[in-house]
Amino acid sequence: MKPAAARRPLLLCALAAAAALSFLLVAPPPPLAAHLSTLLLTFPASPYAPRPKLLFLLAGQSNMAGRGIAPSPLPPPFRPHPRVLRLAASRRWVVAAPPLHADIDTHKACGLGPAMPFAHRLLRESGGDSSLVLGLVPSAVGGTRIWMWARGEPLYEAAVARARAALGAGGGTLGAVLWFQGESDTIELDDATAYGGRMERLVNDLRADLGIPDLLVIQVGLASGEGNYTDIVREAQKNIKLPNVILVDAIGLPLRDDQLHLSTEAHLRLGDMLGQAYLKFNSSTDSRQ
Ligand SMILES: *[C@@H]1O[C@H](CO)[C@@H](O)[C@H](O)[C@H]1NC(C)=O
Ligand SMILES: *[C@@H]1O[C@H](CO)[C@@H](O)[C@H](O)[C@H]1NC(C)=O
Repeated sequence: MKPAAARRPLLLCALAAAAALSFLLVAPPPPLAAHLSTLLLTFPASPYAPRPKLLFLLAGQSNMAGRGIAPSPLPPPFRPHPRVLRLAASRRWVVAAPPLHADIDTHKACGLGPAMPFAHRLLRESGGDSSLVLGLVPSAVGGTRIWMWARGEPLYEAAVARARAALGAGGGTLGAVLWFQGESDTIELDDATAYGGRMERLVNDLRADLGIPDLLVIQVGLASGEGNYTDIVREAQKNIKLPNVILVDAIGLPLRDDQLHLSTEAHLRLGDMLGQAYLKFNSSTDSRQ
């Protein structure tokens, strides 16, 4: 990781924190040079924290955690909104401001991902409905293979624990799991061919452990891969044979120079596509029976 690239998300975080704070008018913006962890600690608990929320579990690897570089100024769909909250690693509800995974995917420099544009899309479509409070539950970790998300593995157990904590803290309903993962399963042929079965098991286990048998899972179809077997994983994603599992395909969205990570523009579009997919599912008459 180049030092310059590593520093940018810190600046982004500082800007986002400043925006979140000025929104709530509780404190002056912190100095831009303040350290990331200090900034996270200064996020105020949201006044919407006790309200029932429409929750979304964000899981997968780096493209869900977000590696998009922050332009200045931050485009509106990435900016904080008082009714978009984030479950911090400390399990407090804070105003969501990118990078959403800064305290979760801690071994890498996080940037922009799809979840803020997704949330803004939902808010836009809800009209003036000020009772809609969104609760994002970041749980993605870069570089992870799907076997690491099997029941009993630390990532799986942490995600389930965070989802349960989110449901408990103020209550609400889990609207969907947003799952963007598989790039690391394109390196070994064995991983790629096992992907479909592992994904189906993951969905079944999540539904059982959260007690939500019809839980919606929105998978993002891979736009890139770390190895040569991206097509095999993509086919597996398209062929998941479970109800209420849908695919939003990221193929063709612009990538960063590394040809692996989605660009900021791509995350804008992907977030919007995820929002549309959720709204379409939610409004379909045959869902949620
Ligand atoms: C992909 O295939 C090329 C050509 O056979 C090979 O050189 C390369 O090492 C492979 N990549 C991986 C990650 O296995
Ligand atoms: C989901 O659908 C229900 C029932 O039609 C509606 O009341 C609710 O506003 C929808 N949620 C969103 C986020 O659009």
